Amino acid sequence: MSSTLTKRKPVAKRSPGKQKTTKRAAKKQTRPAQNAKSKLYASLVVQLLSLLKGEHDLVANAANFSALLFNSLPKVNWAGFYFLRGEELVLGPFQGNPACVRIPMGKGVCGVAAQQCETIIVPNVHEFPGHIACDVASNSEIVVPLFDGERLLGVLDLDSPLIGRFDDQDAEGLNELVTVFVGHEEGLINDHG
Ligand code: SME
Repeated sequence: MSSTLTKRKPVAKRSPGKQKTTKRAAKKQTRPAQNAKSKLYASLVVQLLSLLKGEHDLVANAANFSALLFNSLPKVNWAGFYFLRGEELVLGPFQGNPACVRIPMGKGVCGVAAQQCETIIVPNVHEFPGHIACDVASNSEIVVPLFDGERLLGVLDLDSPLIGRFDDQDAEGLNELVTVFVGHEEGLINDHG
């Protein structure tokens, strides 16, 4: 696996769409809701570690990781991976409707997140220039790049039928989860490089 992209930026960037989408996503949560989400992600880290324990097959682990997210996070209709293959992203294990297989760098939310090496939260996919629609039910999306050190490996992509479903807590929680995942898979990914 090769990549010309090595720059890693902090989470999370808002959709490059219209300003009003940013305002919508910035809607304040109550503290109980924040605590509940924080506890959910802490629980998912424990569950992911348990799923990964003793297993180093990348496809199997990515499949279980996507199933964990799909079945644990409320209001999510697609959860899965695109891995960097040469200069494009190729569909990996996922849960949800069949999706487009190849995404060029810089195209769609996934391609932009990969190219910019940034987590991107899109409150309303219909306002994101170049959004690639794989499921008509999707209205919001978050894409989290995966890194092996500074090297881009691919992205984790989640869709929701709810407008403004994903916020900074989701970005932080998902980044922690992918860090756990990549840390566990590192040897295998390098072997397949
Ligand atoms: N919406 C994505 C394409 C992948 S599907 O959502 C599964 C994008 O714009 O890159």
